[in-house]
Amino acid sequence: MRRLHGITAYITGGSSGIGYAIAAELIRAGARVALLARSEERLVEAEKRLVATGGQVAVTHLSLDVSDREAAERALPGLVDQFGGPDLLVNCHGVTGVYYFSDTSHDDLMRLLSINIGGVWNTIQLLLPELEKRHATIVNVASVAGFVGVLGYSAYSASKFGLIGLSEVLRNELKPRGIRVCVLCPPDTDTPMFRAENVTKPFETKIMSETLPVKSAEYVARAFLRGLKGRKFLIVPGFMGRLTLFVKGVAPRLLFGIVDNDLRKAQKKMARTSGQGESRV
Ligand SMILES: NC(=O)c1ccc[n+]([C@@H]2O[C@H](COP(=O)([O-])OP(=O)(O)OC[C@H]3O[C@@H](n4cnc5c(N)ncnc54)[C@H](OP(=O)(O)O)[C@@H]3O)[C@@H](O)[C@H]2O)c1
Repeated sequence: MRRLHGITAYITGGSSGIGYAIAAELIRAGARVALLARSEERLVEAEKRLVATGGQVAVTHLSLDVSDREAAERALPGLVDQFGGPDLLVNCHGVTGVYYFSDTSHDDLMRLLSINIGGVWNTIQLLLPELEKRHATIVNVASVAGFVGVLGYSAYSASKFGLIGLSEVLRNELKPRGIRVCVLCPPDTDTPMFRAENVTKPFETKIMSETLPVKSAEYVARAFLRGLKGRKFLIVPGFMGRLTLFVKGVAPRLLFGIVDNDLRKAQKKMARTSGQGESRV
């Protein structure tokens, strides 16, 4: 997708964090933007801020839980009628939960799968005729945790590995229908989700990610736009994410060795810390 001026973009999760930053970048490039998320209040606030910065470009919003199939069936046709169908669909909504596997309930897993995969499934399937008509581009937002598994991310990585798998299938299956599919895999990014995750993360996970740079949502959004124009399938913002993907591809045992070594170091630090009587978190 080389020209963004005048296109219509739907962004799920557009009221916050990375989705909001992508919306701002697209508006700057002259796109019309529809924000989709659950909280009406946060959508109205986000729309106001985007209109204030975006000049004359059209922005609208739809309050919708994308994992609710029936609600999506009812609401999406109205958005298409009112605002036009999407040339670009960015599935950027998502929820997280980073705990030890033994503390992660089956309900936690189902919630993450239902939103992080089921929500994407719903928007694509329900908008398919519109996407086909417009030879649209779909971008599903996964994560670096969608191609490397680290302690604490059992449910989240299950959802994001699954999302990359779904995207690979759709890349192939929808290509003959003129629809391009790609995946954005952000690294740790400073958003409300990341801040909330840090409160509950196991100690080892915190230590293991401590040395990695945390990117801003604006950085990720700019990388997203470059990737979109470059027609890549996997868009991985930041050097460390791309290096991880490369090592996983050419030498997966090396990557496992690095991850295991990081965990050993984190466990030693945890033992020292608890030996000093300090809190683990
Ligand atoms: N931040 C990171 O470090 C990081 C790293 C890698 C990947 N990611 C991925 O990037 C995406 C955006 O995350 P973020 O960090 O920007 O999080 P965020 O600031 O918490 O934003 C999440 C957005 O998703 C919406 N949302 C959540 N559940 C929804 C549902 N069922 N239906 C519709 N909208 C829903 C939220 O609005 P409502 O709550 O109002 O619905 C919000 O707009 C997610 O897919 C996340 O997994 C984030």
